[in-house]
Amino acid sequence: MAKQLPQIMNIFFFLLLLGAFGEARDPFACDPKDAATANLPFCKVSMPISDRVKDLLGRLTLQEKVRLLVNNAAAVPRLGIKGYEWWSEALHGVSNVGPGTKFGGAFPGATSFPQVITTAASFNATLWEEIGRVVSDEARAMYNGGAAGLTYWSPNVNIFRDPRWGRGQETPGEDPVVAGTYAASYVKGLQGTDGDRLKVAACCKHFTAYDLDNWNGVDRFHFDAKVSKQDIEDTFNVPFRMCVTDGNVASVMCSYNEVNGIPTCADPNLLKNTIRGQWKLNGYIVSDCDSVGVFYNTQHYTSTPEEAAADAIKAGLDLDCGPFLAQHSEDAVNRGLLNENDVNNALGNTLRVQIRLGMFDGEPSSQPFGNLGPNDVCTPAHQQLALEAARQGLVLLKNRGPSLPLSHLRHRTVAVIGPNSNATVTMIGNYAGVACGYTSPLQGITNYARTIHQMGCADVACKDDNLFSGAIDAARQADATVLVMGLDQSIEAEFLDRTGLLLPGRQQDLISKVTAASRGPVILVLMSGGPIDVSFAQNDPRIGAIVWAGYPGQAGGAAIADVLYGTTNPEGKLPMTWYPQSYLSNLPMTDMAMRSSPNRNFPGRTYRFYKGPVLYPFGHGLSYTNFVHSIASAPTVVTLTVDGRHHSGNETISGKAIKVNHARCEKVSIGLQVDVKNAGSKDGTHTMLVFSRPPAGPWVPEKQLVAFSKVHVPAGGQQRVGINIHVCKFLSIVDRSGVRRIPIGVHDLHIGNVKHSVSLEAKVLGVIKT
Ligand SMILES: *[C@@H]1O[C@H](CO)[C@@H](O)[C@H](O)[C@H]1NC(C)=O
Ligand SMILES: *[C@@H]1O[C@H](CO)[C@@H](O)[C@H](O)[C@H]1NC(C)=O
Ligand SMILES: *[C@@H]1O[C@H](CO)[C@@H](O)[C@H](O)[C@H]1NC(C)=O
Repeated sequence: MAKQLPQIMNIFFFLLLLGAFGEARDPFACDPKDAATANLPFCKVSMPISDRVKDLLGRLTLQEKVRLLVNNAAAVPRLGIKGYEWWSEALHGVSNVGPGTKFGGAFPGATSFPQVITTAASFNATLWEEIGRVVSDEARAMYNGGAAGLTYWSPNVNIFRDPRWGRGQETPGEDPVVAGTYAASYVKGLQGTDGDRLKVAACCKHFTAYDLDNWNGVDRFHFDAKVSKQDIEDTFNVPFRMCVTDGNVASVMCSYNEVNGIPTCADPNLLKNTIRGQWKLNGYIVSDCDSVGVFYNTQHYTSTPEEAAADAIKAGLDLDCGPFLAQHSEDAVNRGLLNENDVNNALGNTLRVQIRLGMFDGEPSSQPFGNLGPNDVCTPAHQQLALEAARQGLVLLKNRGPSLPLSHLRHRTVAVIGPNSNATVTMIGNYAGVACGYTSPLQGITNYARTIHQMGCADVACKDDNLFSGAIDAARQADATVLVMGLDQSIEAEFLDRTGLLLPGRQQDLISKVTAASRGPVILVLMSGGPIDVSFAQNDPRIGAIVWAGYPGQAGGAAIADVLYGTTNPEGKLPMTWYPQSYLSNLPMTDMAMRSSPNRNFPGRTYRFYKGPVLYPFGHGLSYTNFVHSIASAPTVVTLTVDGRHHSGNETISGKAIKVNHARCEKVSIGLQVDVKNAGSKDGTHTMLVFSRPPAGPWVPEKQLVAFSKVHVPAGGQQRVGINIHVCKFLSIVDRSGVRRIPIGVHDLHIGNVKHSVSLEAKVLGVIKT
């Protein structure tokens, strides 16, 4: 068709296209129009990346190099290299946090997916990767239009260790394996899987043991996290390791806090030895924003700024978010604290990533993804995925009666009440961008029923009862009452940890008064990142159902309404434990210990180590149907072969825990076949969680998640699900020295109510000649 158009029309379309793109981006470097630089060796696409890096490093002066060690990297005009802003964010959609991204003009918004804690509740790794793919399409489109960078400092994969943490919402929850799987999946979606080439560069942050923002007078800039070797290996580092080894992430960010007295960004053991040495990061290590300045100015870790710059770079830091390294690295070299070679190593790591992104390949429009533009942002398909993600992430916590789903025939008039009832920006949480548009809960419910809307409280702080009477009247008149309550960024946020777990202000009072007045069923919908102690609502028989929506993203209200009316059968599961308020009574947020300690009355943290009462356990989530498991096939004995260099004879080892390094791990896995029957009357998707309980021993968790899988089962139907559990990776535990070991003996696998025991045996193989 295009061929038949007269030439003039082609030119017209070309101009139209340019207009639509707004500011089409000039090449970052190696501009074919610049004869002086376009043919320099570092511009040669056919040359190996390492040679291009070497060539460029050889042309730069030390002064030029140090200006490239910071997020707003300076231009090098004599080599045809423009300035670059490294700091962009894309936690759950292209974000407007960070100077690298600007909304407006041809890019008024981007698809705003649910906050990560909600997406994590879907337990769907395919969804996590798919969201990453969509976000990076939009990011590349915005980059092409000059509105964003190619380096995104997302995701946040710190363990949600304490329920008060203001940034828990940004994370995939409290379980290391879920967090690591999320990290690897989202990163693959963002970066693409085209060999060494990067679609955009992702970044797993904040390494490590960073999960306190500002609590009881202690903030992240001053916090020294005292962490045992056991907890580091067993909990805090797991998501980062999986992000690097399974996700091939292009960057890791070190955190503000110290770990055992050393700022993470100055610790060679963490950066050089662990991330780069053991895990083999192919990418760059970046500081959190102004971390290096913080450890010099606030933590007084070194006595001069030059020593701080030298310590950071020698520890393995490659890029500073902040000006510090540009200001002090040259003096550090001149004073002999740092070799220029150390600077070259750091810069080589960032240049390699820029080359992998295509930034030294000339015209952006002629490269992969060069065709993406404004029409590829906020597309109907992308917005549909945001809705789908919210549907998969909503968690049905309680359903007495059952009260849900509502019926559009019987519940024709619904009172929609609460400070979050018409929420928009609240639904996208923090590190969000500008959404394409919103469907609030009120709008969503209006698609199913006539609504009477009352805020009940002016905002989530709910300081007074001035608006209560209108809400109570609404509940009296309606066939059903939906209360949309909870938190927002004024209660839990970056630099704002919570002080307790209860609903703020007079929210509980409003819920109780409205409930007492309601004519029809009362449904409580909670928006929050962290858990809320709503024991009163769980125990109140007049409150029929409770739904946790997390922060469900731009389409959250539509997903909530779909769940309330049964168009969507809820399938989400809690990615973190919901504790009662009393849990906090002997739990300083500053105490990093994961394991309980009865002699000091310390309860322990997360479902893996805490044995006390909970409101809702990790993994809790109801459905409108009823799934029944049975094991179709599973081994009862699994034998692990142990290298004879470490154990003598061919004896069977029992009652021991063998070092993973001494076992021949490659092929040892437990293959399970599980039948999932939908015994109810509604089609549904079952989220199957497999836990293991290791043989009793000194270091073992209560139980740990070893696999998860999702399956759609029509009403009355049955599906067989295959699960493979890698023995060394998932059945191992960590001893006090931080060494991973496999306990020999009986491991119990728990799937719902079903338990299956596997006896793990070890056989020593005669000495292997290597
Ligand atoms: C997981 O998410 C993807 C993407 O939305 C979806 O296509 C798939 O059906 C989901 N898996 C299950 C079992 O629901
Ligand atoms: C709900 O929020 C939307 C968007 O902020 C606003 O336009 C609308 O007036 C609100 N509706 C009510 C009933 O307050
Ligand atoms: C152990 O078993 C292997 C193979 O079964 C055999 O070749 C070897 O001689 C045995 N070693 C000892 C010390 O018994």
